[in-house]
Amino acid sequence: MKTVFITGTSRGIGKALAQKFLKEGWRAFATSLTGELDYTHKDLIVLNLDITDHEAIKRVSNKMVEEKIKIDVLINNAGVLLDKDDESVEIERLRDTLEVNLFGTIAITQSLLPFINSGGKIINISSSAGQLTRDVTSTRYPGYKISKTALNMFTVTLAKRLESDNITVASVHPGWTKTDMGGSGAEFTPEEAAGYIYDFSQKDVESGKFWFRGERMDW
Ligand SMILES: NC(=O)c1ccc[n+]([C@@H]2O[C@H](COP(=O)([O-])OP(=O)(O)OC[C@H]3O[C@@H](n4cnc5c(N)ncnc54)[C@H](OP(=O)(O)O)[C@@H]3O)[C@@H](O)[C@H]2O)c1
Repeated sequence: MKTVFITGTSRGIGKALAQKFLKEGWRAFATSLTGELDYTHKDLIVLNLDITDHEAIKRVSNKMVEEKIKIDVLINNAGVLLDKDDESVEIERLRDTLEVNLFGTIAITQSLLPFINSGGKIINISSSAGQLTRDVTSTRYPGYKISKTALNMFTVTLAKRLESDNITVASVHPGWTKTDMGGSGAEFTPEEAAGYIYDFSQKDVESGKFWFRGERMDW
């Protein structure tokens, strides 16, 4: 049985992702800030994890060692959008955003690297909001945008580092999705976003690139 590890699975895209992988016959390690989820499955293992908490990350990696768990796909889904439509960058809000979207994501990824199988994949859930080449007509969400642009650079540098380990690293834009973050007017349901990310996880793709619904995106 293949194993997926997904962060931030209590709601939104993360929840839909965990449920999709379980439905497809995978074992899922699914993290939540409370250690609880409002769904169950025989192959679902819930982990209490705040990705900004170093002790919690250590506890998770100890569990991986003790139980000899190997991961085929790691999905860094947990994320926050803390900007309040502000056009100026509020430093404290930016710091809190980077703590989760960048530092926490890097910390959990690096601690899980020893457990990722050769041939495995690391999928960083990024956003078109972080695209440098996009025609930026809006100055909204500067902190969030900065965090996703930086996350994309983590994808590129990590892909290079893992080249000889045969581990593929990708940034993936899930699409504008109806979640607490995306709002009710968004284009896709969480299940649609999760379905496409699941399909993407099954494909052989070039490492260190940015993707949306199976197509390459410009940085
Ligand atoms: N929705 C969109 O339109 C859209 C578009 C582009 C990219 N994205 C990206 O897609 C990902 C999922 O977004 P979403 O729309 O599903 O967001 P969401 O509904 O707000 O859910 C975010 C998830 O992240 C978890 N989380 C937040 N801080 C965390 C931390 N410190 N440690 C661990 N988990 C944490 C939350 O846990 P709790 O429930 O416990 O708070 C929740 O499960 C994010 O990376 C987001 O940036 C979303």
